[in-house]
Amino acid sequence: MIDVDDPRPLAKPARSPQDGLSPRDFDRLAAIIESQTGIRMPPAKRTMVEGRLRRRLRTLGLPDLNAYCRHVLDGGGLDGELVGLIDAVTTNKTDFFREIDHFRYLMGTALPALSRLPHHPGRDRPLKIWSAACSTGAEPYTVAMLLLEQERAGMPIRHEIVATDICTEALATARMGIYPADMARMVPEPFASRYLMRSRDPEDATVRLVPAVRQSVRFGRLNVMDPAYPVATDMDVIFFRNILIYFDKTTQKTVLEKLCGHLRPGGCLFIGHSETITNMDLPLKQAGSAIFIRN
Ligand SMILES: C[S@@+](CC[C@H](N)C(=O)[O-])C[C@H]1O[C@@H](n2cnc3c(N)ncnc32)[C@H](O)[C@@H]1O
Repeated sequence: MIDVDDPRPLAKPARSPQDGLSPRDFDRLAAIIESQTGIRMPPAKRTMVEGRLRRRLRTLGLPDLNAYCRHVLDGGGLDGELVGLIDAVTTNKTDFFREIDHFRYLMGTALPALSRLPHHPGRDRPLKIWSAACSTGAEPYTVAMLLLEQERAGMPIRHEIVATDICTEALATARMGIYPADMARMVPEPFASRYLMRSRDPEDATVRLVPAVRQSVRFGRLNVMDPAYPVATDMDVIFFRNILIYFDKTTQKTVLEKLCGHLRPGGCLFIGHSETITNMDLPLKQAGSAIFIRN
């Protein structure tokens, strides 16, 4: 029996060697992950992958990672586990108004420039925006809030926002539009008071987006490694931020070429500030920090 008055910390149960991934199993899983998602898994990521996959054990009723590997790698369980494996290894960090100068550029420079194109987007046809690695939705919802503000200011822009990601768990959160309250700190006024609802229950540390914001974005699962993308080929704006860092140079170029095929001439591509696409020979010209215009 545990003596509750005993101040000594409880000893952690010893981990058996089977608790980790053998180098061979790690390499096999890494090869599957990279071929399916493009995400590089160098040996340095082994501890991270082990931690993420341990969360799958309970769901699958498996005792340890060795059993997981035998199930997935040797027991024919890969097809059934692929979505769970991918969900586990993707990194979904995001924030509202992340890399805010992109949103300033969108509203202050890109939209006025697009409005000078033939068939003025937002007036003669909907402005089409695609967030192509949207994670839990903060990025496309930030755009939705900005366009709702534009409408409040009496300058409505007819628009369609599509948001896609490979991670089904991130997409489920995105569709609900409920976030930990500390994510609200990134939402400046007046957006926070207009578009975020706080619970009346002081114990409830979440915020919820108002229906007008949630209804502005259409979410879907899309793997950018797929040979073709079932989205429009005349996007005005594509956000593809903070995902290139996970890919090797060849994959980056292949994916970016496909994305360019979905961007209309004069359209705008945003990548993450820590990402570069130099020397890739893409039909893009740089217009700002991590901002590119389709030729
Ligand atoms: C770090 S988040 C970036 C979210 C958002 N774009 C931002 O900058 O805040 C990277 C996202 O890329 C997604 N991702 C990774 N590989 C992908 C793939 N092959 N196809 C589509 N999405 C992918 C992950 O699931 C994750 O949600």
